[in-house]
Amino acid sequence: MKKKFLNLGLQPIANSFLKSKKKKEFKYNLSIGFDTKNYLVSLMKTVNPKKQYTKFYAHRASESKTMREAFKTVATNLKKRFKPKLTMEIGSNDGVFIRNFKKKEIISIEPCLNLAKITKRNGFTTYPKFWNKKISKEILKKHGLIDLIYSANTISHIPNLNETFLAIKNILSNKGVFVIEDPSLLEVIKNNTYDQFYDEHVYVFSAIAISKISEKYNLRLFDIDLSSVHGGSIRYYICKKDCSYKNTLRLKKQIKKETRAKMSKFSTYLKFASRVKKSKKDLIQLLKKLKKNKKKIISYGATYKSTTIFNYCNLGKYIDYVIDTTKNKQGKFTPGQHLKILKPEIGFNKTVDYAYLGAWNFKNEIINKEKDYIRRGGKFITHTPRVKII
Ligand code: TMP
Repeated sequence: MKKKFLNLGLQPIANSFLKSKKKKEFKYNLSIGFDTKNYLVSLMKTVNPKKQYTKFYAHRASESKTMREAFKTVATNLKKRFKPKLTMEIGSNDGVFIRNFKKKEIISIEPCLNLAKITKRNGFTTYPKFWNKKISKEILKKHGLIDLIYSANTISHIPNLNETFLAIKNILSNKGVFVIEDPSLLEVIKNNTYDQFYDEHVYVFSAIAISKISEKYNLRLFDIDLSSVHGGSIRYYICKKDCSYKNTLRLKKQIKKETRAKMSKFSTYLKFASRVKKSKKDLIQLLKKLKKNKKKIISYGATYKSTTIFNYCNLGKYIDYVIDTTKNKQGKFTPGQHLKILKPEIGFNKTVDYAYLGAWNFKNEIINKEKDYIRRGGKFITHTPRVKII
């Protein structure tokens, strides 16, 4: 049974950056629940994917150096370990993963038409579709069974997890491996990164939950990798139940860690919810104090995650504007709070005293890049693992 533990209030679609402040926005209630039977943490109510994954989808995975390098390493390691004849990626974004493969060795699925166009133009077989039973049948008929199915930051976005797994089970070859990569729930709880909850993140997975759902479809979670991307993610390796892959020590260790953190208990999530409320109070208090002292505060990175924070904490009145390197976010306004998004070349100037790290998951990359800002006394603010000035 799914029990609600956190209410993050009325929220807009996290990726709906506005051309004009006047546009009427769709809003929904962002509440999160825990299923005591299968240990899944998920949104209580989901948004229609057709509203989210449109031809205007803003996020371009290949724009960050961290992500380009991370996907290159993953692709190299997966090819070396599993030697797949045919690989399929679900949710290929702008091709940041598939570009590490030969064109005839990989096919991809991407429902956002602006992104699917990019990989198609670059010569990759791309299906501009949502992942479901129908498309899995179409692909099976055309390409046969698949040896390696990879999906980063996508499976957690699909509301119907049962259909997702069923479709995977039907298309995965007998020795095939299904690899998914998503933010880790243990890291969210440890670091109080409640902004990992937004409309697209229907689920935030744990190893104990992925293990349970795999079992349900005669599949088996046999290995995991821990990765630092997106503030701490887990790469899950899943095979058919009777396949010869042995369950690894790394997996056993993760299950132990999650069990020790009491992630199968509802009370853990209630405690997390009280820490979230405190985080909101602390962040507002800090920004209020800085504003009183006439400090200029901006936000660094117009991330989807910061949509949750900005709207839950109502931060519009404390933050002057947001800077972001993504061209199709620049000149627009943030969802809900309507803060202007500027190019860093314009907005990250000498008048800035404090920059809230909206893109906290790229903290190291940003701090390395912004040495001049730090040298002249500029400071960063973060809410993770607790509200503080860096
Ligand atoms: P993400 O957390 O959803 O991947 O989004 C990160 C956003 O942060 C993306 O819009 C790009 C932006 N960003 C910057 O503006 N400057 C930077 O130095 C980095 C690393 C990211």
